[in-house]
Amino acid sequence: MAETTDVTGPADASGPAQQHWIVAPGCPLRGTLTVPGDKSISHRAVMLAALADGVSTIDGFLEGEDTRATAAIFARMGVRIEAPAPSRRIVHGVGLDGLRAPDGPLDCGNAGTGMRLLAGLLAGQRFDSVLVGDASLSRRPMRRVTVPLAQMGARIDTAEGGLPPLRIHGGQRLQGRVHTLEVASAQVKSALLLAGLYAAGHTEVNEPHPTRDYTERMLAAFGVDIVFSPGHARLHGGQRLRATDVAVPADISSAAFFIVAASIVPGSELRLRQVGLNPRRTGLLRVLRQMGADIREEHPGEHGGEPVADLVVRHAPLRGIAVPEAVVPDMIDEFPALFVAAACADGPTTVRGAAELRVKESDRIAGMAAGLRTLGLRVDETPDGATIYPGVLHGGCVDSHGDHRIAMAFAVAAQRATGPVQIRDVANVATSFPGFDTLACAAGFDLRRM
Ligand code: S3P
Repeated sequence: MAETTDVTGPADASGPAQQHWIVAPGCPLRGTLTVPGDKSISHRAVMLAALADGVSTIDGFLEGEDTRATAAIFARMGVRIEAPAPSRRIVHGVGLDGLRAPDGPLDCGNAGTGMRLLAGLLAGQRFDSVLVGDASLSRRPMRRVTVPLAQMGARIDTAEGGLPPLRIHGGQRLQGRVHTLEVASAQVKSALLLAGLYAAGHTEVNEPHPTRDYTERMLAAFGVDIVFSPGHARLHGGQRLRATDVAVPADISSAAFFIVAASIVPGSELRLRQVGLNPRRTGLLRVLRQMGADIREEHPGEHGGEPVADLVVRHAPLRGIAVPEAVVPDMIDEFPALFVAAACADGPTTVRGAAELRVKESDRIAGMAAGLRTLGLRVDETPDGATIYPGVLHGGCVDSHGDHRIAMAFAVAAQRATGPVQIRDVANVATSFPGFDTLACAAGFDLRRM
């Protein structure tokens, strides 16, 4: 078996000329697709395996730029990571205190998850470190992690306005405490729990709405004594992690684009194989079903401790709804796809309580509204959401704003347009869904690179 050490980092933002897609209106979408591994779980698997005692194998690892950036960061801190085959990593854990000081800034690329979780993890090290990111990540708010970490005794400097880079001063004595978060954020919760491993006493996190619990579940799988329930987690510091193997299920946030595409294109039927269905991630399924979508779950099972099933999606007429605010955290990454479903529904769809969308890889409310308007629709924005009025989608030229999920959402919207849609600046799709274009063409999309 070939063995290579994975040191591949994120793409150079100043690199090759921008890529664009031209997507022609579609025919019925058919076939069976397997989407790549879950991004959230892949990040965490590398982090926890690196801190564990012993060797862990990760299967189904997402070969995206974001998760490869995280792996490269641990390689820079002395962790040996082999990549014997695509989507497989063998991580030689160095133990809780075994990381080495990096020889320069650590580049998280486009990954908010990478930067925020690492902020917590690195706050407890003996050495200093600096986290940097690409242009999009450099505009994203970091006080949500630096402020509660400072309350534990961490010292982290940010740029003006609480933005990256993060300069983390090592050698601090962290103290566990009870955190009551204002924002429902799995990234913030996870940063605090990771810092809590290095803190004296107990670290407890209470959330305003439950968010994805992968950090909690995976810490338990690595042998950490952690108590958690929806919206709450608590652990005590100083615990060592025991290496374990991780199986990463397919990412529902990537499947989302095909779920919406099959729902809106008449005559479609797609099977998405063994998609991860953690209840904190399935808000889109609940909302689409409320809109009238035909989504069946077949061959349910478990993969790496997560519920999975095949999703069989057939075209169905959709009706607009008011998206319940309580479901927002369970579909926080799926709004670009939902906006497209709403654009093809019968009657307006209203989204509220989703201000977080304005601080994702881009301002997703503004980006989706602008693109849908370009294609001929009316979208009314509010600070925390939008109302999307369905109508005939025309061809036109839209911008991804460097946001992978906006790019893929408009490739889906093009399926129902009356003419070709040009989508500008799509290189970012590789951060979360390498091979999206090939898979989309296999399903019946007419998508060409320009
Ligand atoms: C993620 C949590 C979410 C999500 C992001 C991945 C994670 O962010 O949007 O894509 O892996 O913890 P927030 O926790 O900031 O809502």
